Amino acid sequence: MKQYNVGIIGATGMVGQRFALLLADHPWFKVKVLAASPRSAGKTYEEAVGKRWAFRDAPIPENLKDIVIKDATADVDEIASQVDFVFCAVDMKKDEIKALEERYAKAECPVVSNNSANRGTPDVPMVVPEINPEHIEIIKAQRERLGTKRGFIAVKSNCSLQSYVPALNPLMKDFGVKEAFVCTYQAISGAGKTFETMPQIIDNVIPYIGGEEEKSEQEPLKIWGHIEEDRIVNATSPRISAQCLRVPVSDGHMAAIFVKFEKKPTKEQILEAWKNFSGVPQELSLPSAPKQFINYFEEDDRPQTKLDRMLEGGMAVSVGRLREDLIFDYKFVCLSHNTLRGAAGGAVLMAELLAAKGYFD
Ligand SMILES: NC(=O)c1ccc[n+]([C@@H]2O[C@H](COP(=O)([O-])OP(=O)(O)OC[C@H]3O[C@@H](n4cnc5c(N)ncnc54)[C@H](OP(=O)(O)O)[C@@H]3O)[C@@H](O)[C@H]2O)c1
Repeated sequence: MKQYNVGIIGATGMVGQRFALLLADHPWFKVKVLAASPRSAGKTYEEAVGKRWAFRDAPIPENLKDIVIKDATADVDEIASQVDFVFCAVDMKKDEIKALEERYAKAECPVVSNNSANRGTPDVPMVVPEINPEHIEIIKAQRERLGTKRGFIAVKSNCSLQSYVPALNPLMKDFGVKEAFVCTYQAISGAGKTFETMPQIIDNVIPYIGGEEEKSEQEPLKIWGHIEEDRIVNATSPRISAQCLRVPVSDGHMAAIFVKFEKKPTKEQILEAWKNFSGVPQELSLPSAPKQFINYFEEDDRPQTKLDRMLEGGMAVSVGRLREDLIFDYKFVCLSHNTLRGAAGGAVLMAELLAAKGYFD
């Protein structure tokens, strides 16, 4: 496989640090450029991250420590000339992020983004590689709109939905998911925080995460949408209602979900569908693809966030407690790692899919 030079935009942040760890010895992608805000620009990565390095069990990768951080906004052309594509995860205003991602794309530098700014753009694919890999074909139309040859933007969906959307997906075709109610229990790293920087979460639950419920209800419909000419048209069902809570957990978003089907399956049919669900990443053996995407736990007290979030390098989805419900047909719980499968890891997997399909050539 060809090697690609990559940049991390927002390298000093929570997701950016995850990218740094995941890419430090990636078989296809080599980190050439790190960029962040003007506050960090000009410092080495080690100096700029300083005490913010979030991982006690993994130090800053040696090969990235001494890279001098570039200014993500002022140095767009220079960065674009040095890499084959960039990963982007920045904390800026939505319109600023939209403009920044478009500047990179127009400088012929593809952007694989974790930000929400472009998720609603109709010709920007929002991809969970096991579910809707064919959506990357919209990139042709996007390139025409942007007037680019190579440049484009592809995005990852929100971290909250990375457990329950994969679990619902293999049930949709045969049994028709009609309605789902979901309550998420989300980790503080999802807000870019640690227990040191978010002490108010200790011994506490905060019942509000700005914008999260809307994303959890609406983004699945784009993932389950289809391409029509120059845009992705959203699916109109299933109806999803979400409540999102912040809980005192470092990493890992859990979701408790209740589902109503058009044609109620048996428990065995559901378990079978989960066991057999695999997609293009598994077919192509992409380096970050989990071997078994959905893993069912028989134990009543699993999956647990702390025990199970790192399953298959944090790229698999854990499911448990499947049982019939009095109001809906079934209920169960799901778990995924929010900064791995839900952010940086999911973006790396999407980039592997794009690379394998020739979109960075
Ligand atoms: N955390 C998650 O689980 C998660 C999951 C999915 C998506 N996301 C999304 O990923 C993005 C980053 O999230 P995060 O949790 O990593 O945030 P974060 O820890 O607050 O990091 C923000 C990053 O953005 C950079 N930045 C801030 N202002 C900037 C500017 N004006 N120009 C250039 N860079 C600037 C920061 O650089 P400095 O260090 O120089 O300030 C830092 O590298 C957000 O859009 C978020 O919604 C996060």
